[in-house]
Amino acid sequence: MTDFRSDNTHGASPEIVEALRRAAGGTISSYGRDEITLRLRDRCRELFEHGSLETYPLLTGTAGNSLTIAAMSPPWGGVFCHEDSHIHRDEMGAPEFFSSGAKLFPISGADGKLEATVVETMIREIGGEGRTARPAVVSLTQATEAGTVYTVDEMTAISEAAHRNDCRVHVDGARIANALVTLGATPAEITWRAGVDVLVLGATKNGALAAELLVVFDTTLAPELTTRIHRAGHRLSKMRFLSAQLDAYLTDDLWLRNASHANSLATRLAQGLGTVQGVEILRPVEANIVFARLPRSVDTSLRDHGFLFYPWTLFGEGAVRLVTGFSMAEEDVDSLIAAARSSG
Ligand SMILES: Cc1ncc(COP(=O)(O)O)c(C=O)c1O
Repeated sequence: MTDFRSDNTHGASPEIVEALRRAAGGTISSYGRDEITLRLRDRCRELFEHGSLETYPLLTGTAGNSLTIAAMSPPWGGVFCHEDSHIHRDEMGAPEFFSSGAKLFPISGADGKLEATVVETMIREIGGEGRTARPAVVSLTQATEAGTVYTVDEMTAISEAAHRNDCRVHVDGARIANALVTLGATPAEITWRAGVDVLVLGATKNGALAAELLVVFDTTLAPELTTRIHRAGHRLSKMRFLSAQLDAYLTDDLWLRNASHANSLATRLAQGLGTVQGVEILRPVEANIVFARLPRSVDTSLRDHGFLFYPWTLFGEGAVRLVTGFSMAEEDVDSLIAAARSSG
C-alpha cells in the first residue's frame, strides 16, 4: 500500500463487515428503537463506566460536531477552539449553520493543543466585554489535528476552566481511539471524569465503513440533541446498520487494536524517516499522523515511486502530512522509508 493521504482512505475491518452481514437479516424496529442500537448504548454505559449516558449513532463527524455545538450554544454563543481545528477549518461553517450563528473563536496553541489559561483568558475577555458573543462551548480535538494527544491533566484543566465560566466541553474524537491507546487511560478517565460533556467518538477512520457516535455525558442535552438530529436528517430509519458497525467496533477492543496498530506504524515511520538526510519531523508523533518537512528531491522521488500524501503548508513550506491506518502493514511503512533513503 502506498496511500498515506488519510486514515479515511482505508476500507473496513472484517469484523465490522461481518457484523453488518449479521444485522442484515429479518425485520427490526426502525429509527434507533432496535435492539442493536440499545445494546450499543448499554455497551457504552459499561465501557465508559457511566450508567446514564446517552448515545446517538451518526453518519459523519461533521454532523456530530455541529449538532453537538448547536445543542450546547445559543445563536449568540461563543465557541472556543484551536485555530487548526476541523470545526474551524474543514466543516464549511456547519457548526455556525446548525447553531443559527454561534461564533467560533479560533485560538492558537503549540502542537495543535489549547491551553487552559489561554482559553480562560479569552472566555473572560469575550464574556466580560459582552458585545461579541456569550461564551458557551470549549471544543477540543483528541487526538489533535497536529497528531498530538492531550494528557488527562491537560483536558481536566481545560474542562475546569470551561465549566468555571459556564461553558460546556465538546470533544471531536475523530481519533479518540488513537489517543486512548497512547494515554493508556480508560475511556472514562479521558472523557467525563476529565470534564467532557459530549464526545463525538470516531469510527470511520479506524475500521468502520461510515459511522460516528455521540456519547452524551451531560444528559440534559439529550432531548434537544434528539430533536436536532432528527431535524437535520440524521436519524436514520435503518439505524441498525450504523449501530451494528459501532457495536462491532467497540467489541473485543477492536477500536483499540486498530488504533494501536496505526499508532505504532506512525512511530515506526517517524523514526525511520527522521534518519533520512534533510528530513525534519515537525510535530511530536503521538497518534497516527506524521508531519514532516521533506527536501524537494525526497518529495519528488516518493511521488515518483507512487506514494500518495498531502502537502501541509499550514505547517510551513515543504511540510507534508503522512497518515497511517489500521489496514496498513509494516512493509508499507518500510518501503516508504527505503524510497526516501534512496533519494537522499
Ligand atoms: C479532526 C477531525 N474531526 C472530524 C472529522 C470528521 O469528518 P467527516 O464529517 O468527514 O466524518 C475528521 C475527518 O477528517 C477529522 O479529521
